[in-house]
Amino acid sequence: MASFASFTAPSAARTAAYPKTPQLSAATKPPTHISHHYSSPAGHRRRTRQPLHITCDSTAPNNTPVPDNHSPTSRRDLLLGLGAGATTALTLDPFSAALARPVRGPSIEACVRATAGDQTFACCPPSFAGVDIQDFQLPSASEPVRIRRPAHLAGLDPVWLDKYKRAIKAMRCLPNDDPRSYVQQARVHCAYCNGAYVQADDTNKGLQIHYSWLFLPFHRYYIYFYERILGKLIDDPTFALPFWNWDHEDGMPIADMFKDTESPLYDPLRNPAHQLPTSLLDLDYNKRQPAVRTKDEQVRVNYAVVYNNMVSGAKRRLEFFGAKYRTGSAVPVRQSSGSCENLHNPAHIWVGDSSRALGEDMGNFYSSGRDPLFYVHHGNVDRLWNVWKTIGKFRFDFDDYDYLNASFLFYDENAKPVRVKVKDCLDNKLMRYDYEERPLPWRNFQKTPASSATVANIFGGEKAANAAEAPAVELTPLTEFPLALDSVVSVSVARPKKSRSAAEKEAQSEVLVVYGIELQGDKVVKFDVVVNDDPANPSGPDKFEYAGSFLNVPHDSMKFATNLRLDITDLVGDIGADDDDELVVTLVPRVADGPVTIAGVRIELQN
Ligand code: C2O
Repeated sequence: MASFASFTAPSAARTAAYPKTPQLSAATKPPTHISHHYSSPAGHRRRTRQPLHITCDSTAPNNTPVPDNHSPTSRRDLLLGLGAGATTALTLDPFSAALARPVRGPSIEACVRATAGDQTFACCPPSFAGVDIQDFQLPSASEPVRIRRPAHLAGLDPVWLDKYKRAIKAMRCLPNDDPRSYVQQARVHCAYCNGAYVQADDTNKGLQIHYSWLFLPFHRYYIYFYERILGKLIDDPTFALPFWNWDHEDGMPIADMFKDTESPLYDPLRNPAHQLPTSLLDLDYNKRQPAVRTKDEQVRVNYAVVYNNMVSGAKRRLEFFGAKYRTGSAVPVRQSSGSCENLHNPAHIWVGDSSRALGEDMGNFYSSGRDPLFYVHHGNVDRLWNVWKTIGKFRFDFDDYDYLNASFLFYDENAKPVRVKVKDCLDNKLMRYDYEERPLPWRNFQKTPASSATVANIFGGEKAANAAEAPAVELTPLTEFPLALDSVVSVSVARPKKSRSAAEKEAQSEVLVVYGIELQGDKVVKFDVVVNDDPANPSGPDKFEYAGSFLNVPHDSMKFATNLRLDITDLVGDIGADDDDELVVTLVPRVADGPVTIAGVRIELQN
């Protein structure tokens, strides 16, 4: 098994190895001349759709057309030297009480170039040196509430659409060193996600806002400021972003306004095959082996994925929000993403251009903020956070001190740096924005049993007629873990308690934990988890036997370890396994752009 000894959070050595990205002042910055979208080193961009040209008003002071002018330099040599001599041992539970402090991230002065694949990228914000960082204040209660509407419906309103396009164009036309510019807004995500930052209170530790409870609040603030900047640029305090309503059949395609190649909302770095009028987002996307489904089948699968991640698989906070992440936590240990994050991951891979090594734009966190769709996608994630809190018991925000006081830095609509705390974003109405109410067609989704006769024969059920002929599932003993997940693997896992009463089930969830998932951060890896299922014909998301999926969206180049937590309380009842001592858990690799190792599988009861 690969050792993690050489992969650690950014250390002092690393900070020294990477000189701070020079921040040019407006006066010294050479004018950027851009004749085409992204001067990219990859060079094999598809030409099937016309590149975007933005013409900025030359009489306006801010007339530099954007997209970005990154010229990534290969710094592979430095990357390889990254962790030399590091000794931090990775454990899967680094959150000891002694370390309990809120993440106060990041240290801007220690910002370094971000990594993706074997390249590095300039993603640090303009320097805060000498600038007073203000604490965030909620907007005044007299401000109008911005109402976010579904993109596919909002786009039918020509007045609003014109505002949105004008605002994005104005953002693209701001000079690149304005923190509100298109380039700088995209860099916010890059810096927080691709290894540019260290934690302000522990500069030996990197900062990562995915794979933990920081995921929802970070992205809420991110699009909050982005929306207010857009409103400010067109002088409209009511301006609201749309959201990509992919949890409703009508909202599953990319909305037309983003596909118009002449529009500032267009981004050429997308998978062209997914911008056809008939393409529906696949929330169970397997990249090179996309499932062939009819429209109705795709809608059903998407509803099932939403149901699994919002309802049955995330009855409690830890499974929905993700792991508790405090200052001192080593960043290569991303303890676990929540189902809110798992639900949102496939859209990144599906939208990005998979013919590019790094999957730009949406398919890598370093570049995803360059696509206007990113903010619209995250609008829906943000909306579903609210929805989750309304659909069952135990569905509250964390009230942990270290959650409420975790903080981030953003530039506001006036280009002033502000420090925000999680506790101020838990009620979006106080932030003066809200969502138009939408039906939740997935809310009472009815899953069905796997149809395979093998399943019935081996695991019981009405169809168990030919039990004698059924091939046995080949089990890998848990003692053979850790193992490389390069083929389908089934293990028998003991349950902490069987035959639980309804009251016991309500008091404690039964949670399946695939732990010690080790992979390279910049690789797409996806595997599905099914229970008591036929390994030769594993079930999809709409079946009882399907528990969930792991999917890594490429980000920084570090190796890391994480866990997948899936609530299987309902699943166990659905498959008739309440009285079983053990469950057969099958891991099904679906995408492997890099190796993945699994340390083990266990079942826990959780309050
Ligand atoms: Cu920070 Cu959708 O990712």
